[in-house]
Amino acid sequence: MRINQLHPQFFGEVVDLDLSQPLHGDQVAVLQQAIDAHAVLVFRDQQAMDDDAQIAFSGLFGPLQRSITVHRKDTERRLERDELSDISNVDETGQRLAADDRRRLLQKPARLWHTDSSFRNPPGRYTFLAARTLPPEGGDTEFADMRAAYDALDQSTQDRIATLIVHHSLDRSRRLAGAPALSEEEARNLPGAEHPLVRRHPSGRDALYLASHAERIVDWPEGESRALLDALTAHATSAPFVHRHVWRDGDLVMWDNRCTMHRATAFREDLYRRDMRRTTVADE
Ligand code: OGA
Ligand code: MN
Repeated sequence: MRINQLHPQFFGEVVDLDLSQPLHGDQVAVLQQAIDAHAVLVFRDQQAMDDDAQIAFSGLFGPLQRSITVHRKDTERRLERDELSDISNVDETGQRLAADDRRRLLQKPARLWHTDSSFRNPPGRYTFLAARTLPPEGGDTEFADMRAAYDALDQSTQDRIATLIVHHSLDRSRRLAGAPALSEEEARNLPGAEHPLVRRHPSGRDALYLASHAERIVDWPEGESRALLDALTAHATSAPFVHRHVWRDGDLVMWDNRCTMHRATAFREDLYRRDMRRTTVADE
């Protein structure tokens, strides 16, 4: 395999590696080092990888979380295995969903900058997103490097935020995105979670840990809390820290949620299908 860095700060591209075949221990070790260094990896040309192979590969990096849609009784699941989140605008028969279909509305928060499952405890550590069907244009995914964003803060800001704790909730990002509110069962199963605002990554570097799920800084007044979270988010998602991934057929993208944020971008959903499959390793 070969690994090329696609952005000055982060984001590696892995070529000449077939993930549909079992990997050797030394290959897994190389990939573990690569994800620690680059924070995001795109594996090219994985057309041969099916759902089971994706689940097996993801499981090499830790225990898998179940999709949160297992907590909604009003939402059909297209994909059989609970480890798979359905990131698509198609139904069980492959047809595009109607614009007002709940399954589409529930994906609206992904258009806001976030890190996966920060409203859960444990949150998501690694996410794996496989492109099965891509629109001919649009539907890119943007990534922000939260270690580089942290490094660029001045010393007094780094000192001020060093020990802050943030409450994250799915309810906040759903509201912000204009998506359906939490169902009763979701509210019971997904009450939110608290995480440090600055997290030490295994690479030894510190990273900002933010998301559209970030509701408030614990023990801070509402106004100041919101102002600081918004300012840090604007900083971290400014141009120098962002890489836009334009998907190619066969791409599998793996990212480290502890030190990146990401967001989906628009495409012509009224014309095109986009079918992506996601697995998530818990941050235990
Ligand atoms: C996700 C996500 C972005 C996209 O699957 O967690 O945010 O572009 N996806 O589909
Ligand atoms: Mn996401």
